[in-house]
Amino acid sequence: MSDQPLLSVRNLNTTFATPAGPLRAVDDVSFDLDANETLGIVGESGSGKTVLARTLMGLQPRQNVAVTGSVRLAGHEVVGASTSQLRELWSSEVAMVFQDPMTSLNPVMRVGRQIDEVLRVRHGMDRAAARTRAIELLDLVGIPSAAQRYRAYPFELSGGMRQRVVIAIALAGQPRLLIADEPTTGLDVTIQAQILDLLDSLRAQMGMSVIMITHDLGVVATRTSRLLVMYAGRMAETGPTGDVFRQHRMPYTRALLESSPKLSNAPHTRLAAIPGQPPNLARVGPGCHFAPRCGYATDQCRNDAPPLEPADRPGHLFACWHPLAPLSETTGAPS
Ligand SMILES: Nc1ncnc2c1ncn2[C@@H]1O[C@H](COP(=O)(O)OP(=O)(O)OP(=O)(O)O)[C@@H](O)[C@H]1O
Ligand code: SF4
Ligand SMILES: [Mg+2]
Repeated sequence: MSDQPLLSVRNLNTTFATPAGPLRAVDDVSFDLDANETLGIVGESGSGKTVLARTLMGLQPRQNVAVTGSVRLAGHEVVGASTSQLRELWSSEVAMVFQDPMTSLNPVMRVGRQIDEVLRVRHGMDRAAARTRAIELLDLVGIPSAAQRYRAYPFELSGGMRQRVVIAIALAGQPRLLIADEPTTGLDVTIQAQILDLLDSLRAQMGMSVIMITHDLGVVATRTSRLLVMYAGRMAETGPTGDVFRQHRMPYTRALLESSPKLSNAPHTRLAAIPGQPPNLARVGPGCHFAPRCGYATDQCRNDAPPLEPADRPGHLFACWHPLAPLSETTGAPS
């Protein structure tokens, strides 16, 4: 059991029924995540990052969506789990921090009570114990005067403080996996760094694994050990972060990283715009979804989806019929 990864995702598909036809937002995604690892997920808007995160949590609505494949979290299968089984998982194994803290907080309830509720409902604590623990958690996430802030309403706190409260709520169940979907977007740069430092230190302190979805390449370069690049619902490339930055093989990864290809890049460097538009996922063809925007596309690319292939370094995989040579070897022309 101990050598099993904490999270094991296999051939995961999430397909929405839409008026334009089936839309596969997550398309054959497979990866493992070990305890205490941080996986970054990047990709343009609409590439399926949030849908993937919600699917890993078992959070998709049950209507108009089909999920197939497997998500095993700490030995439990998420796909097809009942609501009560999912509640068990959410109470102890996995928690998610969403982009906008206001959507996760109840605006008319004091923040301390919102943490209490998790502790009482999910952990059966009595009122006094829950209050003590809630104040400890507010303190842990760096909220000054935690005992006073326990009584604050969300609107009385700054954006950074609200996001810390959301993280405190997520941590209340002591999850083994924290999924953070753009947890610092909209916060100013100093606060962003503080929140990311906080997540890093909590990961180390609590032995938590983190999945970090972000548009910020500086965050990816400096704070993740592994990287998953998504394009149009599919895995374009994945591997140890340094290898994907320096030795990527898939032209989309190169395009994505082009503006800031170095690990030495300053934090908060945003992804450059790539010419062309991501495809409408309800109307994609059979081949490589990047083909309409790729300078190296051939008929093979347009007709057949490239499988994930191993690159030179362990754990590094890419999906491309005509892979680039690693940057460190040549100019990167495709083979
Ligand atoms: N409930 C839904 N019904 C139909 N389509 C959906 C639904 N939710 C998401 N989608 C579609 O799934 C695709 C992936 O969306 P998703 O929100 O995961 O993108 P994302 O990578 O998180 O983008 P962003 O960077 O903008 O947050 C998009 O084409 C989106 O329109
Ligand atoms: S498979 Fe073809 S179209 Fe897709 S990224 Fe590789 S070269 Fe470009
Ligand atoms: Mg998203």
